[in-house]
This record gives sequence, structure tokens and C-alpha cells, in this order.
Amino acid sequence: MAQPWWQEAVFYQIYPRSFADANGDGVGDLAGIRGRLEYLAWLGVDAVWISPFFPSPMRDFGYDVADYCDVDPVFGTLEDFDALVADAHRLGIRVMIDWVPAHTSSDHPWFLEARASRDNPRRDWYVWRDPAPGGGPPNNWIAAFINGPAWTLDEATGQYWLHSFLPQQPDLNWANPEVVAAMHDVLRFWLDRGVDGFRADVVHNIGKDPVLADAEGPGSRFPHVGMNDRPETHEHLRGIRALLDAYPGERTMVGEVYLLNTRLVGPYCGTPAAPELHMAFNFPPLFEQWASEPWRERIDVTREVFDPIPAWPTWVLGNHDVKRQRTRYGSEARARAAACLLLGLRGTPFLYMGEELGLEDAVVPEDRVVDPGGRDGCRAPIPWTEKAPHGWGAEHWLPFAADAGHRSVAVEREDPGSFLNLYRRLLAARRASTALRSGSFEWLPAPAGVLAWRREADGERRIVVVAFEGNEEPFAGDAFAGYRVSIASDGVGEGEALAARIGADRAFWLEPE
Ligand code: NOJ
Repeated sequence: MAQPWWQEAVFYQIYPRSFADANGDGVGDLAGIRGRLEYLAWLGVDAVWISPFFPSPMRDFGYDVADYCDVDPVFGTLEDFDALVADAHRLGIRVMIDWVPAHTSSDHPWFLEARASRDNPRRDWYVWRDPAPGGGPPNNWIAAFINGPAWTLDEATGQYWLHSFLPQQPDLNWANPEVVAAMHDVLRFWLDRGVDGFRADVVHNIGKDPVLADAEGPGSRFPHVGMNDRPETHEHLRGIRALLDAYPGERTMVGEVYLLNTRLVGPYCGTPAAPELHMAFNFPPLFEQWASEPWRERIDVTREVFDPIPAWPTWVLGNHDVKRQRTRYGSEARARAAACLLLGLRGTPFLYMGEELGLEDAVVPEDRVVDPGGRDGCRAPIPWTEKAPHGWGAEHWLPFAADAGHRSVAVEREDPGSFLNLYRRLLAARRASTALRSGSFEWLPAPAGVLAWRREADGERRIVVVAFEGNEEPFAGDAFAGYRVSIASDGVGEGEALAARIGADRAFWLEPE
């Protein structure tokens, strides 16, 4: 039986400020994305997720939304968006957009009204509390980015508002049914425009403890959003799923569940009888070091959690919030092997734009730092052409990563051994193989330092071998007999049997001879 599209797809995240700039103002835009859809089709991804492009004061670069149903002029217009979706669909690429349900911008008209007075009809759309008995914030919750209280006092009305992130990102109060209805309307607005689904920003943060009790324990000094795991959220997610399921075409939601514990993440997919998210980002592997045993454990825990539900896992090595994998892992060889790992696992992979070029984080001089969370390095513009300014205007909002010419799309496209062509070959091989897209997963015996597994569907078999540390001991048994290497992370040994000794930081895809 065919799997749902989102289980067989490879997603590609576009951070629109930095992808492609059609109007030359130094900030990427929707027309820029549209102009590069051919590239994405050539690369072989099935769906894009576009980070927020809605009107915003950009204090968190679009994750502070001032109007959910429009396009910020810096990115273009609703017509540009419609044209982008139409072209993407013509090329067979689905389009997911970023829905930011847990907070708005403090510039959103809803918040301006809520703040106007205690008895404003929209007051309760946000979370307000009186000061603690002795004065000060109502509880001990910490906000992300500012490392201080998750509460800011509104002097005029004498109450604090809750913000899990910046003070300019007040948390919405999902306990109020009017908020639920308004945010459902936002989903319908975009579904009616033809989007294939949503990436839901910090969606585990929509349900709140009605008592807003102090955080306790060792994690209590960390941003509270990393601990907010509430039954109310699951109820909301079931409602959202019902809304999506009422549309044709399997509109899909992948939720950011930033709980950093796979066992806590799995339940956000609900159950077959009471489904919630289609997919939930499982971030612990993203933060894992490059080492075989920790990775074996990450894979095992993910299978243990998701298989019995049953739910479909995601695999992510990068996004706009973390250092690029090429930078984290520290070498090109590792980053190439990581691509073979990511695309060889059972579950839906999400690529972050530029990962396919092997881009490193840009080194951003202090006077050009703009992000309150210090994430500028991974958000550097994509270099399209070899010569500076690489397909951008002379002025661009962030500097390029080192080596941008050599890492540009134009240069890498022409080089069969490039990072880009490795990704393209992996994507093509995955698309052509049911075993790789949706087949079973079974560990194969491999010497210490190497992980190996087999994927199988309808009698078709593929093997993935990742040599994190490389092997000293020989391979035992004959699990690899009759297979040859179809893709090697460094291109060495393709068409041959797997070597008996494999050096560190290499990976292979094998198929039957
Ligand atoms: C998670 C997003 O990925 C991040 O970029 C943003 O700053 C926070 N959510 C707040 O919306």
C-alpha cells in the first residue's frame, strides 16, 4: 500500500530572508524563491517549508507575527505567494508554510487591544497576571533569548503579560475559545489558498498550566518553553488535526516540539484513533555528537517510541536555529557521511537550505549581528553564483559564509563530485527505492565504530553503512555478501564490494549486485 505523501517526501526548509533575492534589496523574497523552484526540482526534493513571511516588526525575523493573513512587503505580496504555489505545484513540489500559534508580535492588533485596558474584550486573548504578592513577576518562568523573567509589566494596567520568548512576543491564551477559533481561521485562510500544510512553531507551548505554577527542579532555570508539556495541548492538536483532515489532499502538519526528549515528543503524534500532529520534530539526534554508539541509541529510542504508536519519525540535521551540520561536525568528510545517514534512515528527512552545498556557518562580525538569539551564522545568504555578491545585491542583510564562491550553486552544479551532487544522487536513489523511502529497518552486525542497517520493502533491499569512527575489527558474517556500493560519501569504492576496513567519517549506500 502506498504511504501518505508526507511519509515518502523529503522536505527542504527555506528561510526566505536568505534564500534568493529577486528585487535586489538585500533580503530574500517570495519572487526569489519562485525563481529558484527549478533548482529545487533539479535537486529532487518533494516539498518545501517556508519560514514566516508575514507582516512583522522582525524582532525575531518573522516569528513575531503582526498579521497572520498577509505577506510582509519585504517578501512581496499575496499574489507573489499564489504564483509561487502554482509554480511549485506545477513542478510537483508541495508547499508548507510556518504557522506561529503560540505567540504573536506585540504589534499585532489583537495585543494592542488586549493591552488597552483590563476590560477590553481581547484582554483574555493573552496571559495576564497580577504581580506576585510581594511584587515582581507572577512566577519564576524564564524567557528564551533574554534569560530573564517570562513576564513583563504593563505599567498602565498594572498586570504582567506572559512571553515565552522576547517581551515583544506575548503568548496567546489558547484556553480562550475565541483564540482557538481565530487561529483555526488562519489555518483555513492558507488552506483555501492551496498550501499543502504547515510547520507549527513551538506548538507544544500552546496549552498552559492554568495555575501557572513555578517551575521546579534542575531544569527550572532554563527557558520554560523547553518544559511546557501539557494535556491541554493534546486536546488542541486533536482539534487542529480534524480541521486539516476535513480538507482533501492530506494537508499535513509537522510540529516543532522542542522538548529535547524523544519519549516526550512521540505522544504529540497522538494515536491512530485520536491523531494529533502528522509529524513532530525529534531534535535530540540534531544535538548528538558524531559518534556511533550515541547515534545507535538515538535511532533505537526513536524506533522504540514511534513504532508502537504507530507514528512516523522525522530526522533533522539543521535548521535556522542551530549551527550548520558542516560546522558542528567539523569536517567536510563527516558532513558528507551525515547526508548518507540522514537520507538513509526510516522516517521523513528535513533538509535546511544550504546544507546540500556543505555550507558552513558564516562568521558574523559583531557590528553585523542582528538576531537576539545569536543565530545569524546559519542564516547567511545562499550563494548562487561564483563571483561576489553571488547573485545578491552588493548590500545583503547578513554576510556570506566562508568559501561562498567555491560553495555556490553554480560551481557545485558543474562538479560531479560536489557536495551538491552527492545530495542530488542520494535524493534520486531514495526516490527510486521503496525500501529507502518507506521500507523496514533492521540493524546489521557491524564492528565497533560502524553502524549498518538494512531497509526492505516488497523484497527490495538496500543497506546503509556509516563509519563514524571506522573499524579496527573485521566485519563478521555475510550480511553484505552480494551487495555493492552504489553511493559512497566521498565517491571512493563505488561499484565495488564494501571494503573490509573502512576509515572514519565515511558512509555508503549498498544495493544488490
Ligand atoms: C522556534 C523558531 O524556530 C525560532 O526561530 C523562533 O525564534 C522561536 N520558535 C520563537 O517563535
